[in-house]
Amino acid sequence: MKRVIAIDGPSGAGKSTIAKMLAQRLNFRFLDTGALYRAVALYLKSSGLNEDSPDKEILSHLKMIKIFFENEDICIAYDSCNGGILDYSLCISVTEEIRSPEIGHYASIFSARQPVRDFLFSIQREVAFYDDVVAEGRDMTTVVFPDAWKKFYLDASETERAKRRYLQLKAKNLNITFQEALDDIRKRDERDLNRPIAPLRIAEDAIYIDTTNKGPEEVIEFIIDALKPGS
Ligand code: DC
Repeated sequence: MKRVIAIDGPSGAGKSTIAKMLAQRLNFRFLDTGALYRAVALYLKSSGLNEDSPDKEILSHLKMIKIFFENEDICIAYDSCNGGILDYSLCISVTEEIRSPEIGHYASIFSARQPVRDFLFSIQREVAFYDDVVAEGRDMTTVVFPDAWKKFYLDASETERAKRRYLQLKAKNLNITFQEALDDIRKRDERDLNRPIAPLRIAEDAIYIDTTNKGPEEVIEFIIDALKPGS
């Protein structure tokens, strides 16, 4: 395995921004695992599945796809239903579609399901066979890369995280109030922290960073310092 910088934390703590910038700075690959969960959720939802669907049904649907991604581009290759052979020419980009609040909601629901976590586990691990990687999500430091080179847990106050989500969605011209953004953050925290499988936890060997009153550059500098030998 190559060097992995694993970053976990709740929604809106700044993980994506920090991980992306850090990867660029260090020339590591950026692995946005939330995007993978979102892509799977989009696929399952558009296949008619929901929170009540049994594991068996989720599993049989997941056997019909492969997910490809490079930086922020992500696409799903579908089984052509022709003898069970995946037709890679049917790879459909979902890069934009997965960013909607609706898909974020379904990602939060389907990410609590074992077949979904099993399906994405090996895809995530595989990235680190070939490249140094900055991986961010909810279980990078605890489940997917317990053997990571360095681990960080990014956090921020609930109000700050809701404010960031509100501004992010407003910038995309989405109609949302601050209260709705706050409610969304609370619901996701509740699900991410309390699910029985791979709940969000602070790994014992992770460095905790409160980003509430810090800009991205300040957080990056702190992380870069922490990567230096002997620190
Ligand atoms: O970081 P995000 O909002 O794009 O993540 C979408 C959902 O996926 C979020 O509700 C939690 C889930 N997720 C997860 O369970 N494990 C990960 N490693 C990454 C995301």
